[in-house]
Amino acid sequence: MERIHELENKVQELYSLLEAFKKLNSDLAIQDVFENILLQMVQVVGAEAGTLWVLDQDHEEIVASAAYGPTASAILNIRLSKEEGIVGKVMSTGEAHLIEDVTKDPNWAKRVDQSSGFITRSMITVPLVAKGHSIGALQLLNKQGHSLFTKQDVNLALALANQSALALHNSQMYDDLYKMFMSVIKTLASVLDARDPYTAGHSERVAKYSVWIAQRLGLSSEECDELNKAALLHDIGKIGIPDEVLRKPTRLTNEEYEAMKQHTVIGATILSNMEPKSSMIYAIQTARSHHERLNGTGYPDRLAGNDIPLFARIVGVADTFDAMTTVRPYSKGHTFQEGAAELIRCKGTLFDPDIVDAFTTILEECHYEVERYKLPGRQKGN
Ligand SMILES: [Fe+2]
Repeated sequence: MERIHELENKVQELYSLLEAFKKLNSDLAIQDVFENILLQMVQVVGAEAGTLWVLDQDHEEIVASAAYGPTASAILNIRLSKEEGIVGKVMSTGEAHLIEDVTKDPNWAKRVDQSSGFITRSMITVPLVAKGHSIGALQLLNKQGHSLFTKQDVNLALALANQSALALHNSQMYDDLYKMFMSVIKTLASVLDARDPYTAGHSERVAKYSVWIAQRLGLSSEECDELNKAALLHDIGKIGIPDEVLRKPTRLTNEEYEAMKQHTVIGATILSNMEPKSSMIYAIQTARSHHERLNGTGYPDRLAGNDIPLFARIVGVADTFDAMTTVRPYSKGHTFQEGAAELIRCKGTLFDPDIVDAFTTILEECHYEVERYKLPGRQKGN
């Protein structure tokens, strides 16, 4: 309990920090920040092509994180070792570099040109320095109009780089904070699941299924991220359910069942205590309403139809499916095919038909091998 309390505090702390950062940066999607910085630089200095290199601290490599020009797609995501080439040198010394004739420079990392097919004549490389550390470098290739880059161009690039480095630093911090926040949410969910050996991994699986469904229904990636968070926390209220009820191997008495149902209300209350409230709206709704059923027979509010929030309807389907298909004290667990058949049987009465259709289509498409199902083109938060 103590550990859960600590984690709750941590979540709250991180949320406040995230919100503070959101206000600081109007444009926080880190890839957008990379591309904006590069584009501005290319346009202002007048270059044919450019690359934004960013230090990947985890791998100690420098990554081409944004590229502009005719061979941008070939350059993007190329990785250099920390000391490699002109970029490595500029980042380690923190000094800008101007080369009029690139091919005569011994520091030139030839493999970049060879793999992209781009012929570099003239090049400026400036470091991106934030809080005294090189966090990347900007490289501009070939002055437009066939002339060569001058010292003046370097000074202009340096002035812009100083501004950009700060924006980049803030975005990276926001990104790190977001990752940390999500990992604390996941830890919180897994600590909760670990209280009952039969529900290990339950919250993660429910979140995974929910996001699959949402994507299939055409929800935006921001909505999917919110849903992921809400689904991970849907059973958080079980913190308030005594062990003897939560872990009881035999059937619950009516009284115990009534107590168990309270996890929805307790969950909503816990989440509504987190600040800022606005960022927990979906998680609160989902915790409270994921046991509501389409025909009004669910709990705690006996909501029906579209009065049940969409995320709660999605999590309700994912939650039921996972409960059916995992081993519990009172059930040996159904197969995925049986679970899907049961959802279809209750489609329109207990569950939203569109949500059941989306999920059962996914299950069919992956031949019920859910471990092998991959979301098309998504990564964040999962
Ligand atoms: Fe639940």
